[in-house]
This record gives sequence, structure tokens and C-alpha cells, in this order.
Amino acid sequence: MTKSIFQVKTYSLKNLKRIAYLIAEEIKIPASIILEGDLASGKTTLIRELAYFFKIDKMKVDSPTFTIVNNYYGRIKHTRLNFNHFDLYRIEDIHQLIALPFDYFFKGKYLNCFEWGKKFLPTIFEYSERTYIINIAADNFRENEEFRTIKLSVVEKF
Ligand SMILES: Nc1ncnc2c1ncn2[C@@H]1O[C@H](COP(=O)(O)OP(=O)(O)OP(=O)(O)O)[C@@H](O)[C@H]1O
Ligand SMILES: [Mg+2]
Repeated sequence: MTKSIFQVKTYSLKNLKRIAYLIAEEIKIPASIILEGDLASGKTTLIRELAYFFKIDKMKVDSPTFTIVNNYYGRIKHTRLNFNHFDLYRIEDIHQLIALPFDYFFKGKYLNCFEWGKKFLPTIFEYSERTYIINIAADNFRENEEFRTIKLSVVEKF
């Protein structure tokens, strides 16, 4: 069961920093965020902007295409934040996740961002202190390619 927290529309990349700020202020860490959205809807771009609010150099944040996860050290209120960026696009079998080992990413203060994580929602929910979902819907009409609706919700139970 998910509960919607807020929904915003953006018309350009310039707005994304402000939206990332709203999200960063809203979520309670430790947490996991599952990012949903079609190919090229802007999942990695939003994760990069979120990383910025936790003092991670956003130039370093790139999609972990050939690895399952990239990890970064950020800061939250003077303590260390383990910021992990997963891309599960090619992962089909839950055992590939568990073998990482998965529990390594849920220690201390963490923020785990999962692209293509919805298929493993029960496992992510089980391991996480809190689980959020960010849904990005892009309008692909030629004249307004930059339109996005970004929705934040929290998974209450599963
Ligand atoms: N809010 C936005 N407004 C306009 N353009 C955006 C926005 N977010 C991302 N983009 C652009 O869309 C393109 C794809 O972005 P990105 O790589 O973040 O998508 P993705 O969802 O991570 O893709 P994939 O499914 O391949 O992982 C980039 O060129 C990026 O600059
Ligand atoms: Mg991506």
C-alpha cells in the first residue's frame, strides 16, 4: 500500500534542483527510494540532483550500467551517509541482488536509490527502514518533450 506525498510538474531541467530539494527535505533517512519511469524519463538525472543535497559531487554520479551499484559517501547533519545508486535494469533474479551481499547496503545512515527497482519491491521493503517511490512520467509529444510529472509516495505496508 502506498501513500502519495506530493506530485509536481516540471517543464525544464532547471526546475529539477528545486524538486530534488523538496524530496530531500521530505524523506526520512535511513531509506530506500525506488525510481519508476520509462527509459530516459530522467531517473539518473534526479538521483544526481538528490546526491547534491547530501554533499556528493554530482559530476561523479553516473548510471551504474556495468555494475549493479555505485556507492558514494555523503553527509547528513555531520554524519556520514552511505548513498548507493542501483540500476537493476538487467537484474532478473533476486539471487543476484542477495549475493552482493544486499544487507551491506542497509547499515548506519543510508539512502539507497533504485532504478528499475519495482520488480524487487518486496525485498527492498523488507530490508529498508523506509521505502519511497518516485514516479517520473514524461510526456513524449514532440512539442513538449521536457514535460515531466514527478510523484513521491511512501510504501506503508506490503
Ligand atoms: N526533468 C527533466 N526535464 C527535461 N529533461 C530531462 C529531465 N530529466 C532528465 N532529462 C533528460 O532526459 C535524458 C535522460 O535522462 P536520464 O539518463 O536521467 O534518464 P533515465 O530515466 O535514468 O534513463 P534510463 O532508463 O536509460 O536509465 C537526459 O538527456 C536528461 O538530460
Ligand atoms: Mg538511468
